Amino acid sequence: MIIPVILAGGSGTRLWPLSRELYPKQLINIYNEHTMLQNTVLRLEGLEMLGSPIVVCNEEHRFMTAEQLRNIEIEPNAIILEPVGRNTAPAIALAALKAMENSDDPILLVLPADHVIEKIAAFHAAIKAGLKYAKKDNLITFGIIPDSPETGYGYIKIGEVLETDTGAATIEKFVEKPDLDTARKYLESGSYCWNSGMFMFRASAIIKELEAHAPDIMMPCKEVISKGVQDLDFFRLSLDGFKNIESESIDYAVMEKTFKGIVIPFEAGWNDLGSFDALWQTGKKDENLNVIKGDVLTHDVKESYIKSESSLIAAVGIEKFVIVETKDAILVSPRDRVQDVKKIVKQLKDHN
Ligand code: GDD
Ligand code: MG
Repeated sequence: MIIPVILAGGSGTRLWPLSRELYPKQLINIYNEHTMLQNTVLRLEGLEMLGSPIVVCNEEHRFMTAEQLRNIEIEPNAIILEPVGRNTAPAIALAALKAMENSDDPILLVLPADHVIEKIAAFHAAIKAGLKYAKKDNLITFGIIPDSPETGYGYIKIGEVLETDTGAATIEKFVEKPDLDTARKYLESGSYCWNSGMFMFRASAIIKELEAHAPDIMMPCKEVISKGVQDLDFFRLSLDGFKNIESESIDYAVMEKTFKGIVIPFEAGWNDLGSFDALWQTGKKDENLNVIKGDVLTHDVKESYIKSESSLIAAVGIEKFVIVETKDAILVSPRDRVQDVKKIVKQLKDHN
């Protein structure tokens, strides 16, 4: 059985003011009528041997998470509540331990809850291709064939190709978020893909590798899970046990160190909607290459992302800009500066 493990603990600070502490990116509908969390589950429809998902999210978001799953008629296998975020390695460790309790060593398909994938058939084919290796206790990572020198993603250097039809290959190395010059070289070389952050492995295989490479994370996770409490739909963990666990990504904790890694590269119209520039890139453009949402009037405006939620926005003579208006906040930024929106969020936090 394949159990999806949905990582829904991020905050999406670069999408402020659409994304807020209480309404993070994965819980809002920025891409289509469904939220990012709902899309993550819905795009699995049609896969064979699919079990109910385990969702790992922050305690604060429990009701919205449960409600959004109910609205698409998904009964989760478990909703694990983290009292504080500790990045992806502890989240995956907890899900793997829980999965071993609830089922007989299933295959886990780890999916961040904030991705767009346009080519669902290619995505399903990649999962099928990876399954064969996951059953042999390999750790599968899904690589995206890059089409630009993105610096917001990690890169995977492809090693020895094991199968030409699926492209399955060994992993030579991981490089987390390179600078622009390095990213350009990687793109030209043709031997790197983006690390999608999606993984597939047997629950027992990832537990074994976490024990070997990250015992400082695995041991306290075991303790915390054994003391967890089922509370209605939720599995609660104690803050005392959890807060001292090291914050680390699964990429650093395991994937960069394991000898069992296999990459399945695929081309998927994939984007992690990390910033307003990504929303412009993936959005539907008008004849002036603008992405317009809501009540907006423009004159001589090009290549911009403009979204209004409650007032009329009028824009004149601007190019490559982002304007986002919500009931209580307005953001204005050139499109190539939107990564810095997180600095505003930091100012807001420091201010409070
Ligand atoms: N449950 C839980 N708890 N989920 C978390 C936590 C946590 O503490 N921290 C992050 N996540 C979830 C986020 O919600 C997101 O879905 C996913 O894990 C990845 O975290 P991000 O914070 O979005 O990471 P990133 O985008 O900077 O980088 C990672 O993803 C890129 C692809 O989107 C890296 O793996 C990069 O190498 C990769 O290219
Ligand atoms: Mg991300």
